[in-house]
Amino acid sequence: MPDTLQLGLIGLGHLGKIHLKCLLQIPSIKLVGCYELDPEIVKQVSEEYKVKFFSDLGELLRQCNAVDIVTPTSTHFTIAQQAMSLGKHCFIEKPVTQNLKEAYSLEILQKEQGVKIQIGHVERYNPAFSAVLPFVKNARFIEAHRLSSFNPRGTDVSVIHDLMIHDLDLISLLAQSEPVEIRANGVNIVSKHPDICSARIEFQSGLVANVTASRISMKQMRKFRIIQEDAYISLDLASKEAQVIRLLDGYEDNTIELDTFKGKKFVKLEDLKIQSNNAIVDELTSFAKSILEDKPCDVSLQDGIRALGLVENINKQMSRYL
Ligand SMILES: NC(=O)c1ccc[n+]([C@@H]2O[C@H](COP(=O)([O-])OP(=O)(O)OC[C@H]3O[C@@H](n4cnc5c(N)ncnc54)[C@H](O)[C@@H]3O)[C@@H](O)[C@H]2O)c1
Repeated sequence: MPDTLQLGLIGLGHLGKIHLKCLLQIPSIKLVGCYELDPEIVKQVSEEYKVKFFSDLGELLRQCNAVDIVTPTSTHFTIAQQAMSLGKHCFIEKPVTQNLKEAYSLEILQKEQGVKIQIGHVERYNPAFSAVLPFVKNARFIEAHRLSSFNPRGTDVSVIHDLMIHDLDLISLLAQSEPVEIRANGVNIVSKHPDICSARIEFQSGLVANVTASRISMKQMRKFRIIQEDAYISLDLASKEAQVIRLLDGYEDNTIELDTFKGKKFVKLEDLKIQSNNAIVDELTSFAKSILEDKPCDVSLQDGIRALGLVENINKQMSRYL
């Protein structure tokens, strides 16, 4: 079994350059070369990083086992289809494709070709999220707020495809259940697509998620709060902080005694210790590991489809008011 993955990087824009820096630090990945349409970027990046650029995507694909696709969402399908048809494994940035029809076509192709696909839902590797996972059990209610200031990048799609999808992926992972009702509203303010949106999603399990995303806010915020019978879990995904307030049956150090209708309980408030990491290095390392060790990817094509399904459903509900 080879111990390094021969990988090609496609798209060297804002995020592609960050991926390049990360790929160069991962021992299990050998960067075969890059492919980018903008000649200015090709010149600047090849000079700065001394990496090889291919002028023909087909040639790069022939020379590698896997690709990292960091191009605009509207191009993910065509590039992934070309790579997968040649039997290449794909890391595809989120959203997996611009619509579900394209994503289902990739799913058929994946079955035919037996390749691995990981989607760039990078918040799965946010250390604050990983730290609270052991505490989450039967979540009843989730509140997510993801606000950012305006940036023309990403306005080719709605704020739901661009930002809210991160929280929708985390919520899907925690829900492990199908959505049964979605209510949503949004407003197009500066772009052709909604720039701000608020959605309420009810899952079959009874979990209700209220999700707000905006790309026209004055301040940045990435708050994610989980309420369950025995705990309130509060996450700041931007500053990578997490706090858990739990109700315990027995006394522990630093607990506060409380009389409840269920009898005496003990409240424990913990600021979790968060291990710092580079989430992009971690997701790409994990992608390489899943190929080299023939294991399932952490964030599968089906996870990408589930998140995109919620996005499309929210868009549909919202379009009743737009
Ligand atoms: N996971 C995250 O948190 C996150 C954050 C930002 C962006 N993204 C996603 O990453 C992708 C890229 O976003 P970005 O902000 O870097 O965009 P960008 O516009 O800055 O960069 C895209 C680059 O791809 C190049 N390109 C376009 N078509 C191409 C093609 N067919 N072949 C090769 N190169 C091509 C463009 O010239 C450009 O340099 C999008 O899908 C976006 O949703 C994810």
